[in-house]
Amino acid sequence: MPNELLNTGIAGVGAYVPDRIVTNADLEKIVDTSDEWIVDRSGIRERRIAPPEMATSDFAEIAARQAIADAGITAEEIDLVIAATNTPDMVFPATACLVQDRIGAKKAGAFDLAAGCSGFMYAMITGSQFVSTGACRNVLVIGAENLSKIINWKDRKTCVLFGDGAGAVVLRQAAPGSGILSQKLWADGSGGHSLKLPAGGSRLPASHETVDNNLHFIHMRGRDIFKFAVRATGKAAAEVLAAAGLKVSDVDHFIPHQANVRIIEAAAKRLKLPREKVLVNVDRYGNTSTASMPIALAEAVREGRIKKGDYILMVGFGAGLTWAAAVLKW
Ligand code: UT7
Repeated sequence: MPNELLNTGIAGVGAYVPDRIVTNADLEKIVDTSDEWIVDRSGIRERRIAPPEMATSDFAEIAARQAIADAGITAEEIDLVIAATNTPDMVFPATACLVQDRIGAKKAGAFDLAAGCSGFMYAMITGSQFVSTGACRNVLVIGAENLSKIINWKDRKTCVLFGDGAGAVVLRQAAPGSGILSQKLWADGSGGHSLKLPAGGSRLPASHETVDNNLHFIHMRGRDIFKFAVRATGKAAAEVLAAAGLKVSDVDHFIPHQANVRIIEAAAKRLKLPREKVLVNVDRYGNTSTASMPIALAEAVREGRIKKGDYILMVGFGAGLTWAAAVLKW
């Protein structure tokens, strides 16, 4: 291992969303809601929903293969797989292990990481430590969700918000002065009750009663999360920018967690970031939790929107409560 820490950058990106588009008009047919309410309160117009037979590792595998190809390496060159997900195929084994096997990352360790919707940021920052210390050359980081399977399709307060998908990146050593310039993780477990899936763990093991009471679905106090998200995003962004020695005006692209366009706009306004620098895809995919940021990143890279030397500000927030931020030079 080197004595000095190495810079870590993103060497490849990948993204996958299921084919099936569910529009707000489709949801009007199953719950008491309207396109107008959903667009007005969240900015979401449609989301992708996976078929019943598709599990999270199936999306993760597709995004992972793309990221590996984009990085110009083979799966055998991956040293570590970290999958951030709130919807693993099973409680165990880890979804990361399922993907590691299927892509043929034979030399890699693999584990899942649970940090709510901040999971991708937590996983990227965790993975970067292995690259920075020289412990790993290539780290595959995945954010993948099958939220449609844990949504109560009778609860209009949550079912209109979420979608399915996956994103992935390959982390590798970057040139000095580029890659991740600053990074930080935060948590406040006292707010954990605001967003949870109550049953199926050791506190409330699965039983007929837990199923009858809808305790295997997402439960969320939306307004609490909204206020927390706007506050946390602004503060986290300011802190990582200061740590990188940058000003808001230096930022070329802001990639926030895609939960609600109103949260994104409020955070961008607090930061005084112009609209054209903010990446938004929540209108097309809904909230895909850990997948939202790597999907947005992969799309922007593919469209040629992100160019070498650009500064990227990334901020995630979610259940836990957790939040995390990083500044990268592409
Ligand atoms: O990834 C992190 C996790 N999640 C989030 O970041 C979500 C954060 N929160 C939000 O995005 C917003 O709080 C929501 C979009 C969830 C809700 O928007 P809101 O402006 O905070 O609305 P609200 O929850 O205060 O509800 C306002 C009204 C309520 O009716 P009453 O009690 O005022 O009569 C709700 O029952 O809107 C009603 N409502 C709906 N009406 C039509 C709630 N959901 C719906 C719906 N369609 N789908």
